[in-house]
Amino acid sequence: MSPDKILILGASGFIGRALAQRLGERAVATWNSRAVPGWHHFDATRNGIDTLPLNGVSHAIILLGNTNPDSCARDRHASDRLNIECVLQACDALGQRGIHCTFASTEVVFDGKAGGYVETDPTAAMLVYGQQKVAVEQHLTAHWPQAAIFRLAKVYGTSPGDGSLLDGWYRQAQAGGAIRCAADFISSVVHVDDVVDAFLGACQRNLSGLYHLGGPAPVSRLAMFQALLEAFAKAGTPLPAQAVGCSIDDFPTLEGRPKDVSLNNTKLVTDLSWSPRSIGQACADFVTLARGIGG
Ligand SMILES: NC(=O)c1ccc[n+]([C@@H]2O[C@H](COP(=O)([O-])OP(=O)(O)OC[C@H]3O[C@@H](n4cnc5c(N)ncnc54)[C@H](OP(=O)(O)O)[C@@H]3O)[C@@H](O)[C@H]2O)c1
Repeated sequence: MSPDKILILGASGFIGRALAQRLGERAVATWNSRAVPGWHHFDATRNGIDTLPLNGVSHAIILLGNTNPDSCARDRHASDRLNIECVLQACDALGQRGIHCTFASTEVVFDGKAGGYVETDPTAAMLVYGQQKVAVEQHLTAHWPQAAIFRLAKVYGTSPGDGSLLDGWYRQAQAGGAIRCAADFISSVVHVDDVVDAFLGACQRNLSGLYHLGGPAPVSRLAMFQALLEAFAKAGTPLPAQAVGCSIDDFPTLEGRPKDVSLNNTKLVTDLSWSPRSIGQACADFVTLARGIGG
């Protein structure tokens, strides 16, 4: 049976927009700084969830937060307040109303030394952002065991102009030249439409507990960009750029990055009969859409 309405806290972000679009009238969607007509303004640092129209809402998907690791590290006080305190307030208030929650956590709850992580592996977040997600996970596990926690790998789309990984590389590659990508940063990148399927499946089946929401295979950023270049070449429209391998440590960040944060998705695949698409398929889809737009 389909759940009633689904509240999306943080619907104006990359994942939330895709979710809200799929749900249509069944979404109760919020924005904070990027207004969307017909959606509801909600600033978690100022508003309680009782300011939202919760009639008929059976499920909530919690996406809101400061999602920029450097920004979280730069102002730990403010980011702790939003990413821990305010998120927990919302989760508690939703739980007390009997609304089933699914919380978006991250692959960077791990230190990236091993890779291929399963849900029972101990967390060891290097980044403040990851530590904040761990704090929420621990609270939910202790107080709201019926909630689902999805640890998301890096999410990308295949719509030119969406600002995600493939689009960013495509724009750079059109200008030509050598493009540096990390050969030592490995993630189970996952397509945003597959993420939407998983979130909606979680609501439909009232999933509870921890799940790793990653794509079908670990891939380095370098290999992913090379797959995009190959897809354009195969379609007879090669891009005038070359991929050059480097280290994730070559990019300036406030905190050192974990290297291999790949996730084993077997539990989610089994429990949801969920089948995320491959990078090869995604790159081919991107090329088709980009050529359609370019004429
Ligand atoms: N995208 C990924 O690759 C990825 C990977 C792992 C985990 N995740 C997790 O998945 C979730 C969604 O990711 P995303 O990429 O869609 O994030 P995003 O694009 O950065 O969107 C963040 C959302 O949070 C809202 N928000 C920010 N401050 C708020 C506040 N004070 N009160 C209420 N809402 C606030 C934003 O609203 P406005 O924009 O309107 O201000 C926006 O809707 C996040 O929790 C993220 O940590 C994402």
